[in-house]
Amino acid sequence: MKKLQDKVAVITGATTGMALATAKLFVAEGAYVFITGRRQKELDEAVHAIGRQVTGVLCDSTSLADLDHLFGVVKAEKGRVDVLYANAGHAEFGLPLGAITEAHYEEHFNLNTKGTLFTVQQALPLLTDGATVLLTGTVNMTKVAPGASLYGASKLALRQFARTWSIELKNRHIRFNIINPGPIDTPLLASLPPEAIEAIVAQVPFGRKGQPADIAATALFLACDDSAFITGVEINVDGGMALV
Ligand SMILES: NC(=O)c1ccc[n+]([C@@H]2O[C@H](COP(=O)([O-])OP(=O)(O)OC[C@H]3O[C@@H](n4cnc5c(N)ncnc54)[C@H](OP(=O)(O)O)[C@@H]3O)[C@@H](O)[C@H]2O)c1
Repeated sequence: MKKLQDKVAVITGATTGMALATAKLFVAEGAYVFITGRRQKELDEAVHAIGRQVTGVLCDSTSLADLDHLFGVVKAEKGRVDVLYANAGHAEFGLPLGAITEAHYEEHFNLNTKGTLFTVQQALPLLTDGATVLLTGTVNMTKVAPGASLYGASKLALRQFARTWSIELKNRHIRFNIINPGPIDTPLLASLPPEAIEAIVAQVPFGRKGQPADIAATALFLACDDSAFITGVEINVDGGMALV
């Protein structure tokens, strides 16, 4: 029996990176997935790469109107959500206090905090009893990295979202958990200067980057019944980075 047989999953920010790898694994495990991103070409390519049991919906997670449209499509096509993975996020490093603009603030908090909150809230009427919700945090919620206060703070809100919502939705057995990636080999990480990547990887006790498959495997665990007694927790997928 596949782990997500006949489940309906919605994954935001899944045209590249770790969430695309997750969408592929979810489909291999029997799910139907809805994936989102803001760029049509990348969305089409991702749908093609996944190949089956997938619908791509253009959706900017910072826009409540876009989120309404997304869940309208999901409702019309499948009528429910069993697994929601609110993954879309914005990360900028090298922003020490003194260098932070209002635009920087809005880019981080509008997507990482507001976008995550309203993705889950707009999905709520479609979430089945027993549904699982995954959020993407970051090792920077725990680890102090100069220049990353804004990024870390905008993701840190997810900790109380997941913990509080776990209690608020306990009677419907909806579980909320967070995956905190360390440096993972995605286009986001690759967009940093090579010396910055080297400096980050040097802080990982395992001495290497993680792969999107590491996140996908963790997301599958948290999405399926293998984690049926787990809610309100964070799993660091970071080669030990948060420990040092
Ligand atoms: N890679 C790492 O090392 C790392 C470490 C810690 C945490 N994270 C977190 O992991 C998540 C995924 O990162 P990634 O490394 O996989 O990034 P990525 O490869 O850059 O992928 C980001 C995805 O999100 C989409 N996206 C960006 N802004 C969006 C928005 N406003 N609305 C909807 N979709 C949006 C992108 O497509 P469009 O551009 O077309 O919208 C793309 O599909 C983020 O939350 C990030 O903060 C990453």
